[in-house]
Amino acid sequence: VEAALVDGPLKGRHVLVTSGPTHEPIDPVRYIANRSSGAQGTAIAAALAGLGASVTFVTGPAEVPPPDGVTVVRVDTAREMLAAVEAALPADAAVFAAAVADWRVASAASSKMKKDGTGNPPVLEFAENPDILATVGGMETGRPRLVVGFAAETDDVIANASAKLTRKRCDWIVANDVRPETGIMGGSENAVHLVRADGVEDWPRMSKRDVARKLAARIAEALAGEAGA
Ligand code: CTP
Ligand code: CA
Repeated sequence: VEAALVDGPLKGRHVLVTSGPTHEPIDPVRYIANRSSGAQGTAIAAALAGLGASVTFVTGPAEVPPPDGVTVVRVDTAREMLAAVEAALPADAAVFAAAVADWRVASAASSKMKKDGTGNPPVLEFAENPDILATVGGMETGRPRLVVGFAAETDDVIANASAKLTRKRCDWIVANDVRPETGIMGGSENAVHLVRADGVEDWPRMSKRDVARKLAARIAEALAGEAGA
């Protein structure tokens, strides 16, 4: 738990953070989801609150509990997450650390699907979920001044992250290599690249908590700079 700095550099700022996976129902007992413990998003929300920000933490069903000192909004699906994000605006900055399921089952069954005895599995039809980061990044009015996305990649990390920065109209992308051999997924450390329109910073491997603190400090600097401009 971070000690809140009552007079910290983010005092008076509202920051929105998404975190965790989303769960997309197949039927009442089954769902599809991304792998996400919620550890990095939770650490970021805690670090922002520690700098004095008022934080709205919109979280899917994560493994780690939400931090103290933030307003927690719990959701299950991507569509619920988008609605919660829109309801939480306006914000000075928004950090999209959630691992949102790209697809949902087009029409989830309202009763449990049963094996029919033929040995033929069901065929699921998928629909694409809304892109929450791209929706907020592209807002013409009410866009947070600083919009930060994540890109968890297994290949061509910087190229994929830069493409997302442009496509989703965000200001920064925190990119990382999540190939299983890195041990980052589900672990306590992270090695990230901060991708901005004007260049890429490679941060050394450090604890997720330190990544969160460094990112929160950068956010505070960026908002202070723009406020004074
Ligand atoms: N994101 C989001 N809503 C979605 C999908 C992604 O807000 N429906 C956000 C994530 O929270 C993250 C960023 O977009 O900040 C990048 O997510 P990622 O899954 O890497 O991007 P996609 O556009 O879904 O690309 P990919 O096909 O590589 O999964
Ligand atoms: Ca995705």
